[in-house]
Amino acid sequence: MLDQITTLRQNAEAEIAAVDSLAALEAYRVKYLVRKGAIAELFDRLRGVPVSEKPALGNALNQLRARVQELYDERNAELTKKPAPPAEIDLTLPGRRTFQGSRHPLMQTLDEMKSIFVRMGFGVADGPELEDDYHNFEALNFPPDHPARDMQDTFFISKEALLRTHTSPVQIRVMKEHRPPIRAIMPGRVFRNEAVSARSLASFYQLEGLSVDRGVSFGELKGTLVAFARQFYGRDIKYRFVPSFFPFTEPSAEMYITCFLCKGKGCRMCKHTGWLEVLGCGMVDPNVLRNVGIDPEVFSGYAFGMGIDRTAALRYGVDDLRLFYENDVRFLKQF
Ligand code: DAH
Repeated sequence: MLDQITTLRQNAEAEIAAVDSLAALEAYRVKYLVRKGAIAELFDRLRGVPVSEKPALGNALNQLRARVQELYDERNAELTKKPAPPAEIDLTLPGRRTFQGSRHPLMQTLDEMKSIFVRMGFGVADGPELEDDYHNFEALNFPPDHPARDMQDTFFISKEALLRTHTSPVQIRVMKEHRPPIRAIMPGRVFRNEAVSARSLASFYQLEGLSVDRGVSFGELKGTLVAFARQFYGRDIKYRFVPSFFPFTEPSAEMYITCFLCKGKGCRMCKHTGWLEVLGCGMVDPNVLRNVGIDPEVFSGYAFGMGIDRTAALRYGVDDLRLFYENDVRFLKQF
């Protein structure tokens, strides 16, 4: 009988290797492990053996049953875990494509501007898009009857609250919170009640700059902006400053650079003038300094503001500003 137990064990161990499906496994179980199976049959025959041999044989049978049960359990775990293998793999199928996103062209432009000013020692500040009349107009020396204060140009939310029409109100907030020396750029989104077209939007981005200290001069303003323009637009640009007017600066100017597309010869981008207007700037008006409690007899400052959308459009040769806001992947993936 001991021989039979050994043979049964060898068979069971050999057969389990060939079990490759749940149906085959069930057949295996029926053959060995059920109440009428091969192992149970040997247990039945134990009754007829001499008493002296019973303990050794019983022990061997118990081990056999445990071993076969173990083989069964292992196989069962493997077969129920493994997903059905594909019938066939088509090696000619195209691979799965993954699409990588990229930074929006406006933010790429802004990042580059920021990094140039930060290297020149400017900090970065921001302020709320929902402003009040005081910060957006009054403190910036806009007279009460200035046309910008009209509903035509500004989105008023209520009598007091409006969507800021420029980033200049952040100057007021920065000067109220910090004493000179102040050197900061203030990028952000601004809003104007404009008919949307290829050349104008009702919402766009600006980058504001401010420097206030003892003895800050117009020469310093020009030097800073020229250094910026050379890094941003190219070493060999030419520039000019043209007198202008803003309520919050005196004197005020606009900066033009030679068109980097035609190098000043005249083209569609510069409307055949050879020049591109890139920003507004000036010396902070003494009234503005007084409004924030900075003594204009002791301190002076300069400020500047530029449009990020327009700059990006000029730089990348984009002829319709609306493209920046449509989020058409065919447009965006070119940057
Ligand atoms: N706030 C002006 C605008 O929206 C731009 C500007 C001009 C800002 C001159 C300045 C500045 O700080 O000095 O058109």
